[in-house]
Amino acid sequence: MCGIFGYIGGRTDAGPLVIEGLKNLEYRGYDSWGIACKRNGAIIVHKDAGKISGVDSSAFAEPCSMAIAHTRWATHGNVSARNAHPHISGDGTIAVVHNGIIENYQELRAELETRGHAFQSETDTEIIPHLIEEEYRRTADFAGAVRAACRHFQGRYGLLALHADSSTLVAARTGSPLIIGVMNDGGYCIASDIPAFLEQTHTVQYLDDGEMLVTDGKSILFTDIVTGEEHPKREIPITWSPEEAQKGEYEHYMLKEIMEQKESIVRAVNQDEQQIRILADAIRNAKGTFLVGCGTAGKACMAAEYFFSVIAKHHVNFAPASEFKLYHHFLEPESLLIVVSQSGETADVLEAMHIAKSKGSNVLAITNVQGSTISREADFTLLINAGPERAVASTKALTGQMAVLMLIAYALTGKLQDGKTKLLETGAAINDMLNPRYIKRIEALAKRINQNENLYIIGKSWNYPMALESAIKIQEVSYIHAEGFAGGELKHGPIALIEDGTPCIALLGNDEVTADMLSNAIELKARGGRIIGIAPQEHSVFDEWLKVPEAGPAQPIVNIIPVQILAYYLAVTRGKDPDMPRNLAKSVTVK
Ligand code: G6P
Repeated sequence: MCGIFGYIGGRTDAGPLVIEGLKNLEYRGYDSWGIACKRNGAIIVHKDAGKISGVDSSAFAEPCSMAIAHTRWATHGNVSARNAHPHISGDGTIAVVHNGIIENYQELRAELETRGHAFQSETDTEIIPHLIEEEYRRTADFAGAVRAACRHFQGRYGLLALHADSSTLVAARTGSPLIIGVMNDGGYCIASDIPAFLEQTHTVQYLDDGEMLVTDGKSILFTDIVTGEEHPKREIPITWSPEEAQKGEYEHYMLKEIMEQKESIVRAVNQDEQQIRILADAIRNAKGTFLVGCGTAGKACMAAEYFFSVIAKHHVNFAPASEFKLYHHFLEPESLLIVVSQSGETADVLEAMHIAKSKGSNVLAITNVQGSTISREADFTLLINAGPERAVASTKALTGQMAVLMLIAYALTGKLQDGKTKLLETGAAINDMLNPRYIKRIEALAKRINQNENLYIIGKSWNYPMALESAIKIQEVSYIHAEGFAGGELKHGPIALIEDGTPCIALLGNDEVTADMLSNAIELKARGGRIIGIAPQEHSVFDEWLKVPEAGPAQPIVNIIPVQILAYYLAVTRGKDPDMPRNLAKSVTVK
C-alpha cells in the first residue's frame, strides 16, 4: 500500500535521501511515485507512473534540506503521473503526500470548486493542499492551517505537508501509520514503515491517531489535532538491523524469508514463558475467545482453532477481521479478542479491535512489528520475532504465528514445555528439510506444472487452513488460478473442476485423518487429477511426493513450507516477480 518518506534536517541531500527511502518502501506495493523538495523558497515536484527501483537518486541531488516523497497504490483515480503524489495547492506553495482515504472528498471538492479552486487529478488527496491553502490565507500559520484542514476530513489519513514559505514540515495522522526516525545529527525522517529508514537510525517516535507534529529539523512538537494539547513522546530503540531488512544473497525477499524459517520458528518458540502463560490464562478466564486476522494471518487463526480443539480441548472462534463487524452482538466485557497481524497495521484488524474495545472486551495482539499501531492499542502484545518481512507474500510470519498459537494451546493444558519441545524438534526438522537438493526438486516440479492454469489443494483438519493458504500463496505470486478445499468437501462440488492432468496438491500428516485424505486423493486421481502429495510418507496414489518431516500437531507448519517454495518457483519460472505481485500490497491500511 502507499508509502511515505519525508526528511527535514541539516543535511543538504534530502532529495536522494527520500528517493532511497522510497525504494525501501517498494515492497508495500505501488504503481507510481513522486517527490517534492523545498529549494530557494519554492516547491519543486517530480512524479511518474511505474517503478522507482531504476531511478537514479543523484538526479535529485541539487541541495535541499526538506523533502517529501510517496509511492502510490491507486484507489481513487487511475495509475498516472497526474494522480501520483505529491499534490499541490492551486498557488503551488503547498505540497502534500497522503496515505489513506478522505471519504468525504467529493463533498469537500465540490465546496472548494464553488470557491474557485481547480483540480488537476481525480484523487481524494488533492483537496488537502487546497484546504490548507485556504486556511493559510486566513492565518498565515502553516501548522494551524494543517490542523484546521484536518478537522474537515472524514476517513483515514497519514499526511506530510510542506509550504514554500515555512521552514517546518507538518505531519498528521488518523488511521494511517507514520513513524518518526530520529537521526543522529538531529534531523528527522518520517515514514509509513520502519524498514524505510533503518539505514539511517534505530531510534523512533510514534505519531498516534489524532495527533500531528511540527518540526523544523532541530526540534519536534507533537500535539492533539483537535485540542492542540501538547503530547510529549519517548524515543524508542528498534532492534531490527538494516541487514535483516535486505535481500542478502537471495534474488528475492520471498525466497530469503522462506529460508529464514529455519531460525524464525525457533525465535517464535523461545518466548518469555510468563507471557505465553498470561495469554493462556486470559483465554481460560474469558467468556468466549475470538481470533481475527486477514489473509495469511487469518489462516494462522483458522489453524489455531484446530490447535485449541485438539491440544487443549478448548473452543475458540475465528472470523476474518473484515467479517467481524456483526460479531459485536456476542461480545461482552468478559470476552477476549486475539488479533493476529504481521504488520500490526491492517485496517480491518484495527476496526475489529475498536469494536471489541467499545464493548469493554480485552484485546490481545500477536504481531511481528514492535510499536505497530495494533501493538500499541492492544491490552497485551506478544511478538513473534520473525524479523522484518518484506515480501508481499507472507511466509515466515505465518509459521511464527502458528508456532505461538500452538504454544498457547499447550500452555492452556499446563504442558507448555511439551509444546516447546515439539516445536523446537519441528524447527530442527525444517532446518534439515530446507537443503539445496530439496529446493531444486521443488523448482523442477514448478517447471513441470507451471503451464497449468488451474491448480487445486486439499487438506483436512489443521491442513485445511493450509490448503486455503496454499491457494493464496500460489495465486498472489504466480497468477495461476489456485483453490484450496477441505478434502471432504470435494464431492459436494469442486470435484467437477478436475480434468485430465489437473495438478492437485494433497496436504497430509500421519494422523487420524490420513486415511480420509487418501480416499479424497484417490477420488481426484480417478477423475484425472495429477496428485502431488506433501506428506511424511509416500502413498501409491501420489504422482509426485514431496517428503516432509512428521510433526504431529505442528504438521501444518511443516506442510506449508514446500508450497511456499513451489509458489515462489511457479512465479519465477512464469517470468513474474514474486516480490512485486500485481494489485497487492504488503500492509493493507485502507478498508
Ligand atoms: C496483505 C498481505 C498479506 C497479509 C495480509 C494481512 O493482504 O499481502 O500477506 O497476510 O495483508 O496482513 P497482516 O499484516 O495483518 O498480517
